[in-house]
Amino acid sequence: MNILIFTSKNEIGTAAGNYIAASVTENPKCTLGLATGSTPLEAYAQMIKLYESGAVDFSGVTTFNLDEYAGLDETDENSYHAFMHKNLFDSINVLPENINFLDGCAPDLESECSRYEEKIENCGGIDMQLLGLGSNGHIAFNEPAPAFENATHPVKLKESTINDNARFFDSKDSVPKMALTMGIGTIMRAKKILIIATGKNKAAAVRSLIYDNPTPACPATVLQFHPNVTVMLDSSAAELL
Ligand code: F6R
Repeated sequence: MNILIFTSKNEIGTAAGNYIAASVTENPKCTLGLATGSTPLEAYAQMIKLYESGAVDFSGVTTFNLDEYAGLDETDENSYHAFMHKNLFDSINVLPENINFLDGCAPDLESECSRYEEKIENCGGIDMQLLGLGSNGHIAFNEPAPAFENATHPVKLKESTINDNARFFDSKDSVPKMALTMGIGTIMRAKKILIIATGKNKAAAVRSLIYDNPTPACPATVLQFHPNVTVMLDSSAAELL
């Protein structure tokens, strides 16, 4: 693992945005795996800045988002679909037909997950996967569990995740209890992975990610088995290292 520690969230955003833009410059037809949540916001702002300055062209890029809440359609402002359009896609030149999401309102969630998994495979897999980190060690919505789930699947969210994400909703009760998520195998097959974490509430999960034996009780620890992982942390998230 290549571990980089920055003094502020803004510095990580710049470095992470540059890293993703560099992947696109290296391979203009690359497939990006993208994350939502608070952590990537500055990285997306940097990608927009680079696009506006003419430094990077996203017209050949394909994207797959990591996950989506079950029961929220794309018109719901809390859907990850809406989040990505607001914070990135509407401000860069990625082609609408190259943007992929899980459909949280699909009539059959299992077959929706299989469709997504197949589509990723048919695109040749993910070239660069961006991840955030849950305070409970989740990556995408792969929650702590007795075993790693390989493929894209529906998942029941843990209480800790519902509590963490309640800040985006009117109340804790409005947070969906289920989601669809890429699996651990889907993520691990990415050619390279960038994981970013900021803030004190991620420090214990960051410590596990780096020092604990890989265990599905802390899904992020599986990244120790991946040959090309970059970890970007701010000093608060790194304070237990
Ligand atoms: C979101 C996702 C989640 C988040 C994680 C951290 O697509 O996959 O794993 O990355 O919950 O969220 P924030 O960045 O809001 O702390």
